[in-house]
Amino acid sequence: MVDYNSVFEHNRKWSKEMKEKNPEFFEKHFSSQNPDFLYIGCSDSRVSVEKLMGVDIGEVFVHRNIANMVSADDNNIMAVIQFAVEVLKVKNIVVAGHTGCGGIKASMCEKSQGAMDVWLNKIKLVYNRHKEYLVTIPEDEKMLDEFSRLNVMEQCRTISGFSCVQESQKKTGYPLIHAWLYEMKDGHLTDLEF
Ligand code: CO
Repeated sequence: MVDYNSVFEHNRKWSKEMKEKNPEFFEKHFSSQNPDFLYIGCSDSRVSVEKLMGVDIGEVFVHRNIANMVSADDNNIMAVIQFAVEVLKVKNIVVAGHTGCGGIKASMCEKSQGAMDVWLNKIKLVYNRHKEYLVTIPEDEKMLDEFSRLNVMEQCRTISGFSCVQESQKKTGYPLIHAWLYEMKDGHLTDLEF
């Protein structure tokens, strides 16, 4: 459990330490950001972008949602992708899924999950497209992780069809699109070679 007040104590200590180590640190980052990566990942609290990538402030533009979904009818992610590509000119767009994903698992549930249903239905559509293959995997856990992998690949395909991405790729060769899967059991990251 994280004590609410300890967050602010930690924050002041961190701010002080950063300024001591590098007096220009915050000023440097205040004026602009120039990240090479757009990371689209799951909201899961057990997946930390900074820790798994070993990156610092200013290095990754981040969007997270349940089960790292990308869809053209989601205004939020569409704005994030357009801004990342056209303004930040990121070199890499990463879609990172993970094993043991609760969103992937919840999408398989037949019962209504209330307000989450619309979102979970998007994930369920991915399952339906790969159902013939996924039902052949006997173990539930393995099937769900394979579903996560296929889901990441599918989100990457969606991104590669967006006009802002295609126009930028034609002009500059970037952004490259990458599919990643984070293994929660050992913290390993795998490039799925999209
Ligand atoms: Co997840």
